[in-house]
Amino acid sequence: MRFVLLTGGAGYIGSHTYLALHAAGLTPVILDDFSNSSPVVLERLQRLTGQPVLCERGSVADKARVQALIERYKMTAVIHFAGFKAVGESVAQPLKYFANNLGGMVSLLQAMDATDCRTLLFSSSATVYGDPATVPITEQFPRSYTNPYGHTKLVCEDMLSALCASNPAWRVGVLRYFNPVGAHPSGLIGEDPSGLPNNLMPYVAQVAVGKRPFLNVYGRDYATPDGTGVRDYIHVEDLAAGHVAALQKLLSASENFTVNLGTGQGYSVLEVVRAFEQASGQLVPCQFAPRRSGDVAQCYADASLAHSLLNWRATRTLADMCADAWHWQSCNPDGYR
Ligand code: UFG
Repeated sequence: MRFVLLTGGAGYIGSHTYLALHAAGLTPVILDDFSNSSPVVLERLQRLTGQPVLCERGSVADKARVQALIERYKMTAVIHFAGFKAVGESVAQPLKYFANNLGGMVSLLQAMDATDCRTLLFSSSATVYGDPATVPITEQFPRSYTNPYGHTKLVCEDMLSALCASNPAWRVGVLRYFNPVGAHPSGLIGEDPSGLPNNLMPYVAQVAVGKRPFLNVYGRDYATPDGTGVRDYIHVEDLAAGHVAALQKLLSASENFTVNLGTGQGYSVLEVVRAFEQASGQLVPCQFAPRRSGDVAQCYADASLAHSLLNWRATRTLADMCADAWHWQSCNPDGYR
């Protein structure tokens, strides 16, 4: 059996990747402190795989614990999902982000180094492109940040470059996610933000299910076809498949890489709302509101490197993303609670 450690494996992207790895014949082991996820996910994963879930409750910053876990299972690789990701919160509480996202990463890398487990996939983000001068965005674009969350992703990437330069035994794949949305088609796992959703799709889903009266559309005067922000929404199932492809590449080739995981196609806020209304048969009332600070007009990937390097590309459409998000939301109006 080949074991793969998933830090933050009970979270939104981690749990979908768990299923994709399992289907590919690998054995994922979750380490999660459940600070932004629910233990109910574990029951759902067990139901979907028909097998007990290997999971430890704990922090990625607990070095001794992580070392012991890597040794116990002789981990083939680590996928590091664990990290805080709310832009606004990172502005209000920067130290929380530096401590967890940077401190956690240093501790994890030390534990990996000490146990000779040096194969890692890292969850980075399109946030490292800041406000791109043009679109689509290739991996060569200059990097910048506009908030502490983005800063931590950028520094983590730099940490990994320095580490790889210091020791050629490291195998590292940096995955820059665009906007992951949707849910597993079973409706058993999905995105479950606590409190008011920050992101568009879960907010739209909560309006459609009647939990919120309307969507605030932040900005209608961007230089985009309909004036609203354009993003590269990617189905979380495609993203999960991207992790499997990236891990296979990392295990079979002797090169490190940084790739965009997106579809290459941008959609505006209003296009997402219309697609969601169509998929759900519900109305999603909208109100225009001022631009949200730090937002960019357009952000979508040039996804060609992932295709040539990993032989992976996203296949699900915006209609699929909305249908699966709606299925999850309507089966679980209160998420995992
Ligand atoms: N939007 C609304 N109303 C809402 C929420 C969002 O109009 O209630 C708009 C935003 O203004 C933006 C678009 O919907 O135009 C997408 O917003 P999201 O918050 O869903 O996604 P972002 O692109 O702003 O942020 C995401 C991740 C960040 C990451 C960033 C860049 O949430 O972690 O992509 O990669 F940093």
